[in-house]
Amino acid sequence: MKSDLLPFWRSFLRDPRHIGAIAPAGRPLSDAMAREVLAVAHPGIVIELGAGTGSITQALFEVRHRMTELIAVEKTPELAVRLRQKFPGMRIHVHCASEVERLSLPRHCDLTLVSSLPFRSLPTRDKQRLSSAIAKISEMASHFRLIQYSYFGRLPFPSPTKNLVWRRSHTIVRNLPPATVWVLEQT
Ligand SMILES: C[S@@+](CC[C@H](N)C(=O)[O-])C[C@H]1O[C@@H](n2cnc3c(N)ncnc32)[C@H](O)[C@@H]1O
Repeated sequence: MKSDLLPFWRSFLRDPRHIGAIAPAGRPLSDAMAREVLAVAHPGIVIELGAGTGSITQALFEVRHRMTELIAVEKTPELAVRLRQKFPGMRIHVHCASEVERLSLPRHCDLTLVSSLPFRSLPTRDKQRLSSAIAKISEMASHFRLIQYSYFGRLPFPSPTKNLVWRRSHTIVRNLPPATVWVLEQT
């Protein structure tokens, strides 16, 4: 949406490494991410990490009846305020995604993480924290998947544990730039 561009670019100018993209995800990419979430019978609790302007959140929000709950985590306060306005009633947490365990999820739940986190541009320390948080939370879920897009077909980030492997799903050419959807899942 056009109205999302200004807050997105403002956040980008303030902190380019943590935004890590030139534009919000387009609708075709957002739909592809939501379809991947629903590719299993029980996506369970769905947590979007780095929800940004909410373009993927919107696609997920429209099918939230297929999930146990939809939650978003966004560390940029200005973007989180907008998410709260756009998605009333949804739990939006304003903190680093590496603190995802603060959400006190039930043990042995079905869990799907949807990530727009710009791993490639993040500082090394952030990447390490996020990787170990993902490994830790994956261990407490009975079924775990993480869905992430990347640009230029590159692997989003190395798997944080040997129990999780990447599978390349779709490439969406109608996105700026074209993006590939990846799934990190249990072996
Ligand atoms: C590529 S942008 C958002 C893309 C989003 N899908 C959209 O269309 O607006 C990445 C987002 O991740 C957020 N982010 C970066 N590092 C984060 C972290 N450690 N924890 C939570 N959010 C983070 C940024 O603030 C930014 O909103």
